[in-house]
Amino acid sequence: MNKILLKIDGREVEAGEGMTILEAARKVGIVIPTLCHHEKLEPYGACRICTVEAEIRGSTKLVAACLYPVEQDLIVRTRSERVDKIRRMILELLLAHAPEARQLQDLAKEYGADKDRFEKEPSFCILCGLCVRYCAEVKKKNAVGFVNRGAGREISFIPEIASKECWKCKECFPLCPTEALQAAYVFTEALVSLTSFQA
Ligand code: FES
Repeated sequence: MNKILLKIDGREVEAGEGMTILEAARKVGIVIPTLCHHEKLEPYGACRICTVEAEIRGSTKLVAACLYPVEQDLIVRTRSERVDKIRRMILELLLAHAPEARQLQDLAKEYGADKDRFEKEPSFCILCGLCVRYCAEVKKKNAVGFVNRGAGREISFIPEIASKECWKCKECFPLCPTEALQAAYVFTEALVSLTSFQA
């Protein structure tokens, strides 16, 4: 693997070809927040909380660290006024959907995000897709999926599969950044037993 030298927060970092900024940063203990990333899953780039400043040949842009590949002489800033502002805004939007989510609240404190900036539209799911992708990519079961489009998009357990597979697995529960997944599962479980009771 070819070696690539870059700078992250002023630190020389040696990375391998094909690594992302996030992987290179983590390798040397630099923390970049993530909400939709999981090392066992394909990069997804949904939440954008991992946004960093990337400077190459004098031009700077904002990129998602979990997607953007390292390159020679790249200069990365994981904290700056611009980066913090974007993360603050993302958190304020997400908190409108999942105001009780501990992980979001902790990040909000760190970035000075106002949890009441946007009108609350609690859906409890921030559409990170971790449960959907973990079930599909790692467990190969597809017991949970996205339903609807646009503003109505949400995750839903597929009752026929979930009733057979989920009770012995539940590996996706701890991945959920809003802890709402368990509630969705309990709801599906109740629905399934109600339907079988009525049948
Ligand atoms: Fe990078 Fe979500 S962690 S976009």
